Amino acid sequence: MYEAVRIAHAPGGADFYRELGQQMGGLLAGERNWMANFANCAALLFEQMPDLNWAGFYLLEEGSGDLVVGPFQGKPACARIARGRGVCGTALAEERAVLVPDVHEFPGHIACDAASRSELVIPLRREGRVFGVLDLDSPLVGRFSDGDLAGLERLMVRLVSASDW
Ligand code: SME
Repeated sequence: MYEAVRIAHAPGGADFYRELGQQMGGLLAGERNWMANFANCAALLFEQMPDLNWAGFYLLEEGSGDLVVGPFQGKPACARIARGRGVCGTALAEERAVLVPDVHEFPGHIACDAASRSELVIPLRREGRVFGVLDLDSPLVGRFSDGDLAGLERLMVRLVSASDW
């Protein structure tokens, strides 16, 4: 069972992500259902990463090509985001992580929660194809670092490979 041990290492560093990876490994052990794993991963990130106001997933809907909200923690959010719109739609269209230090400076940012001031979006890939994104929001300007980006990219590869659809 998951035990809520608060990670003491500085957020964003290698030690922080090593411990977060161990905790995620514990949650994923013995479970391959993607919904269960993504829901628990959103909850883990929301609990362990300081200064977040939203953590969760948007997943590609095949027919429309839109991103549709999936498992998350935080306030109710926009249900649907078109490719190329906002930070999430940009990450999908450009197939790259997008780190926004100040959302007020990002043209087209979609404000689901007026409290959000910085954002990090990581694409999720399956067999080389982007099929969704991880979206993290913070009420602090400049909350996310390149260390967060690198650490979360590794965790997302692990999450996707540990889950079946
Ligand atoms: N801010 C995002 C929209 C999703 S919410 O933050 C949960 C964006 O611009 O894509």
